Amino acid sequence: MLHKNWLRVCSSALLGASLVHSHKLSEHSQSLFDESMTIGDAIYDPSVSYLRYFYYPLAAGPHETRSTVWYSVGLLQRNQDNDVDEAVKILRNVIGDQEKNTTVQWYGDYTVYPEQPTVGSPAYPPVIYNSWDPNWRGFIGTALIIIYEEFRRLLPDDVQGLILDSLYNSTVGDTYRVGGVDGDNLYPAYSNAYLMRTVVSSWTGRKFHDANMTAAGETDALEFLGLFDRNHTLSEFNGPTYAGVSLYALTIAAKYLASTNSTIGQNAPRLIQEIWEYESHLWNPSLRNLAGPWDRSYGYDMNNYVAIMSIWIWTLLGKDHVWNTDTFSSPIWTMTHADDFQISPVLAVLSSFHKSLLPHSVITRLSSFPEDDYTYTGHAFAPPADYSPRNITTWLSTNLTIGTASFNQSVVGGFSMDSSSFSPSVVQWGRSDESIGYFNLYPTETALIAEVAPYSLNLTYPLGNASSTFTFVLASNLLGAKRDISTLDDVEGLRIGVVGGTVDPVPEISFCGLVGGACEVIHGFEFWNVTFSMPVNSSSIPSVWFDFEL
Ligand SMILES: *[C@@H]1O[C@H](CO)[C@@H](O)[C@H](O)[C@H]1NC(C)=O
Ligand SMILES: *[C@@H]1O[C@H](CO)[C@@H](O)[C@H](O)[C@H]1NC(C)=O
Ligand SMILES: *[C@@H]1O[C@H](CO)[C@@H](O)[C@H](O)[C@H]1NC(C)=O
Ligand SMILES: *[C@@H]1O[C@H](CO)[C@@H](O)[C@H](O)[C@H]1NC(C)=O
Ligand SMILES: *[C@@H]1O[C@H](CO)[C@@H](O)[C@H](O)[C@H]1NC(C)=O
Ligand SMILES: *[C@@H]1O[C@H](CO)[C@@H](O)[C@H](O)[C@H]1NC(C)=O
Ligand SMILES: *[C@@H]1O[C@H](CO)[C@@H](O)[C@H](O)[C@H]1NC(C)=O
Ligand SMILES: *[C@@H]1O[C@H](CO)[C@@H](O)[C@H](O)[C@H]1NC(C)=O
Ligand SMILES: *[C@@H]1O[C@H](CO)[C@@H](O)[C@H](O)[C@H]1NC(C)=O
Ligand SMILES: *[C@@H]1O[C@H](CO)[C@@H](O)[C@H](O)[C@H]1NC(C)=O
Ligand SMILES: *[C@@H]1O[C@H](CO)[C@@H](O)[C@H](O)[C@H]1NC(C)=O
Ligand SMILES: *[C@@H]1O[C@H](CO)[C@@H](O)[C@H](O)[C@H]1NC(C)=O
Repeated sequence: MLHKNWLRVCSSALLGASLVHSHKLSEHSQSLFDESMTIGDAIYDPSVSYLRYFYYPLAAGPHETRSTVWYSVGLLQRNQDNDVDEAVKILRNVIGDQEKNTTVQWYGDYTVYPEQPTVGSPAYPPVIYNSWDPNWRGFIGTALIIIYEEFRRLLPDDVQGLILDSLYNSTVGDTYRVGGVDGDNLYPAYSNAYLMRTVVSSWTGRKFHDANMTAAGETDALEFLGLFDRNHTLSEFNGPTYAGVSLYALTIAAKYLASTNSTIGQNAPRLIQEIWEYESHLWNPSLRNLAGPWDRSYGYDMNNYVAIMSIWIWTLLGKDHVWNTDTFSSPIWTMTHADDFQISPVLAVLSSFHKSLLPHSVITRLSSFPEDDYTYTGHAFAPPADYSPRNITTWLSTNLTIGTASFNQSVVGGFSMDSSSFSPSVVQWGRSDESIGYFNLYPTETALIAEVAPYSLNLTYPLGNASSTFTFVLASNLLGAKRDISTLDDVEGLRIGVVGGTVDPVPEISFCGLVGGACEVIHGFEFWNVTFSMPVNSSSIPSVWFDFEL
């Protein structure tokens, strides 16, 4: 108590002098931290102690909860001027608004934004992932663990207590989640959200000596490992955003639970290494992209949106490894999903420890493309969507990658039933101005067989028929090259040849543009819609074979 007060006196007296700086960040993490806090400072509204709601489309007035908690981690890390006081106000506000009615499905959850009407009131029906978001328990809960573990000595006693109580309620509320029940989808295969619950329950159960809560964390951990250890991959495979969240949750487990007998804590360092083992093989340093296939991606080119894997790589190697700072000088907030950049202060705080877990070979692979091209093969399994494990095959070369998953699933669009984010066949290439072209399958079927070889790709729909189509999302040419694409010969930088298969080899091509065309953009990405159809009355299994030439 005395000790804590003493520290507090020092921190206000010395205005964040080195005495109270708890975390020395690496050069790369500090640059990430500074760039993200500049944005946070600019949109922080001290009159209500919340960040403004920074999300496309921009909101007229409201503030936002989750990003504000991430920012509070940054404030505590920076600890200058009135940073700690603001963080305290934020924590009191957010925890004050946490749902307290134990009978509702969203018990223990946090608001999406502070001005929202009461969830469950007549005007504001409870709609999961809309009016309330069950994952906010995990996102905010994990951030509260970091605050408690790293910075509690900066906080008044009652706020420390609030954090623990908040975590307790959030953990209890999270036990209401069961995949397939009440519209929820928290199956063990929903890797990032499942891991956050596992970690929070394991940590909070121990903190409260609550055997039941601790046991729930153990059960979750074993379920997760049962899937992961089949093929040492996340079920939510190679998601540029969500692999980053899974690594985040596991880093918390490794840092704060590894010294306990927690199953997730003891396994976390190994899991982090195994995830980076395959992610570093799939990362193409020349193209600054994870090669496909992607589960749940928020775009088609990581140079043009903010993915959390890019942020992790920034902490390891620097910004220029994920965004081309020579040719791309645009600020982060001009990219789509820029709001995901708001997690940066939290990742920066974890980054030194996280990096200490990685073998040098991973860093080397992330740094530059090896001399020779190579093929990655692996498997991922995400029940209940997957009837059987997906077979992953990805060929990578410096300027061209072809990455695919063969699958047989119960739904169209993968585990999240979303064809705009499930990308089971991805072709990316580098263009003359160092921008990226892409030619990706837009899923319309429940099963796909994909065969990959250097410069070639065969796709087959084993369950398809004469009505099946192969739709590809094709990047616009770069500015100055051909404006219009009416045949595949018009594509800049890559010759795409249709060399066989049972489709009509002449595709229908339309444009899905920001302000016009035949169809909608996807995650802010414009594209040419290249659709191959089957000949009328065909009785063949649908297939299309391509070869490519740079
Ligand atoms: C809690 O929620 C239930 C179900 O909506 C409702 O009937 C009850 O009145 C609520 N309790 C309080 C204290 O608001
Ligand atoms: C936790 O929930 C209980 C109701 O179960 C409520 O009384 C208490 O205020 C909540 N604590 C916090 C910190 O929200
Ligand atoms: C124990 O945990 C389970 C699942 O996590 C939960 O459903 C149950 O209500 C808890 N029981 C007690 C007494 O807390
Ligand atoms: C992947 O998991 C399957 C079981 O789903 C197993 O048969 C296979 O041997 C595993 N492959 C590898 C490379 O571990
Ligand atoms: C972990 O240790 C606690 C006592 O410290 C014990 O009650 C518990 O059974 C242990 N759990 C496992 C999974 O070994
Ligand atoms: C994956 O490959 C195995 C072995 O070749 C094959 O038996 C299985 O059908 C494939 N799975 C899918 C979903 O294509
Ligand atoms: C897909 O899985 C279902 C259910 O297990 C099975 O009946 C079907 O034969 C499989 N299809 C293919 C193409 O593998
Ligand atoms: C990849 O493309 C870049 C830019 O066009 C070019 O400078 C480089 O030589 C290419 N590398 C290889 C290995 O083809
Ligand atoms: C595509 O299928 C054709 C015909 O079966 C075959 O010759 C070619 O090798 C296949 N390509 C790949 C990448 O498997
Ligand atoms: C193809 O299959 C779909 C879905 O099973 C069905 O709706 C459609 O009528 C079939 N088309 C043809 C031409 O058989
Ligand atoms: C692509 O174009 C086809 C028509 O050729 C259309 O049916 C389909 O909905 C479009 N797909 C997307 C994702 O825009
Ligand atoms: C397709 O089949 C239908 C029904 O058998 C027939 O009427 C039609 O003429 C066929 N069309 C073509 C182009 O063969």
